[in-house]
Amino acid sequence: MKKKTNTDRYCRRAVALVAAGLLLVGCSDEPETPLQPGEAQYVQYCSACHSRDGSGRPPTFPPLAGSEWLDLGPEAVSIIVLLGLRGEIEVAGRTYRGYMPTMRQLDDADIALVLDFIDRQWVDWDSVPSAEDVAALRARVADEPLLEGREALERLLEEVAP
Ligand code: HEC
Repeated sequence: MKKKTNTDRYCRRAVALVAAGLLLVGCSDEPETPLQPGEAQYVQYCSACHSRDGSGRPPTFPPLAGSEWLDLGPEAVSIIVLLGLRGEIEVAGRTYRGYMPTMRQLDDADIALVLDFIDRQWVDWDSVPSAEDVAALRARVADEPLLEGREALERLLEEVAP
């Protein structure tokens, strides 16, 4: 009789341990995947509008993932970041009439990191500008106003990054 009680107790303890183990496994978070280079900067400076996965927030904020604007090259994206952009534009088959403020307050290294992240996520440029390249471009567009539409960008690109 006594023996059986002990076995019972051990069994119950074992069941409790297994249950606790399952609970732990069930509750523990997935191990965090480490951030990629530039991801922290993208999340901090761009994702509020363009969303974490680059899909944007249509109809207000256009996507970066699948955007034909990325095909204009990393200099074009740098210029958009440095000057801001507004006016009616087409992105991935949709019309946007939004306003992206200038982000010239970002430093060259942060912009270069964001470009590197965008390159690896959504496009595959031949090369990605370094912080020094961004600094040179910044100097060349220093006196330019906020971009009004895609034509203004393309005109400026021909001048500063032919
Ligand atoms: C406050 C919101 C906001 C933030 C932050 C922002 N953008 Fe934008 N972005 C916009 C809007 C709105 C447009 C479209 C402007 C228009 O309609 O003319 C746009 C357009 C663009 C475009 C061209 C269109 C497209 O979707 O491809 C690029 C490229 C871009 N942004 C890159 C960036 C990058 C890189 C960052 C971070 C450094 C950033 N943006 C941060 C709002 C934002």
